[in-house]
Amino acid sequence: MINPDSLKKKFFEIYGNPEQEPRLFFAPGRVNLIGEHTDYNGGYVFPCALNYGTYLLIRETNDDFIQFASVNMDWKGTIALDELGIKKGEEWVNYPLGVIDQLKKNGIVPKGGQLLYAGDIPNGAGLSSSASIELVTSYALNKLWKGNLLVIDLVKLSQKAENEFVGMNCGIMDQFAVGMGKKDKALFLNCETLDYELVPLDTKNYRLVIVNTNKRRGLTDSKYNERRKECEIAVKYLSKEKPIQNLSELTLDEFKRRESLIPDETIRKRAKHVISENDRVLKAVPALKEGKLEEFGRLMNESHDSLRYDYEVTGYELDTLVDESRKVTGVIGSRMTGAGFGGCTVSLVEESRVDQFCEEIGESYTKITGLEPDFYLPEVGEGTREL
Ligand code: GLA
Repeated sequence: MINPDSLKKKFFEIYGNPEQEPRLFFAPGRVNLIGEHTDYNGGYVFPCALNYGTYLLIRETNDDFIQFASVNMDWKGTIALDELGIKKGEEWVNYPLGVIDQLKKNGIVPKGGQLLYAGDIPNGAGLSSSASIELVTSYALNKLWKGNLLVIDLVKLSQKAENEFVGMNCGIMDQFAVGMGKKDKALFLNCETLDYELVPLDTKNYRLVIVNTNKRRGLTDSKYNERRKECEIAVKYLSKEKPIQNLSELTLDEFKRRESLIPDETIRKRAKHVISENDRVLKAVPALKEGKLEEFGRLMNESHDSLRYDYEVTGYELDTLVDESRKVTGVIGSRMTGAGFGGCTVSLVEESRVDQFCEEIGESYTKITGLEPDFYLPEVGEGTREL
């Protein structure tokens, strides 16, 4: 957890002028419980916001520059207001820059300022560190620059920033969960209509445990974008009989009747994952509402297996972690969360067995992979806000 006072101290060390108070904003990370790689296919997702996330201290200045710094990341620098539209290599600052670019497109005029970021979610580990930076920035700057945009507008604009400026063709799930999350609730979201329902996340005598594989992610964006293309190809094939706009228009039964329209086995498997995953979300939500946690856990397991064999976005470390987790007594479900190719798993573990789980997994996962996992016992937090 980040201490706001020490963050403020750091802010004054970097930017001086301690008589002028900065404002403090926070955007959470998110964990997706089920519904993976469905959002950009117009499908269902079921994420919740975490109590971990990104903090932003921010103060206006009277000059024509924005100064960026982060406690966790190396790059820091000053950018002139008229140069905000230029991408900075592969640096983290591209997320704020992309957001500012979108704010400008919404008629909001940038002003000088000093910004300090600090995060307590691991970067690039499938817990939406990027969306968290985007939302904390868009939310804070919308306030400071008197943008009057609603949180839902900030959600959409942040996704656009990532698509258009950063070049990652992500769906809407992360920004939505980070922006609109509510304490102790999971968001059952239809990504096509953006209709959503807040579902109490009552896990009874089980706990959500997040484990980071700590595998370095490489090429994630390009593989992710490749999956998106494969889904578009699947839509073309499946449209031969009756046109569809996206894979989520088909039920599992409809897909089974039409799947022979797809000649390529890989493309067929990709479509099968998306459509079966939607089906799982539609079963998981009532299971949770009715307190059927074992059923929920079983669906989590099926989700991972589908991501592993049909969508092929898991990899050695995630699969090892999931396999080992399922062997531990008291674990009723375990799956990867987020884009995949590395990053985190989420498991449902019997409360009284959590310590044992961390101990056993710490040992077995390290023995097999040589990597040390990190454990998080998250609470379900509120969405983006000023503190
Ligand atoms: C990443 C993307 C999301 C979503 C997930 C996979 O987190 O940002 O839009 O597609 O992967 O479910």
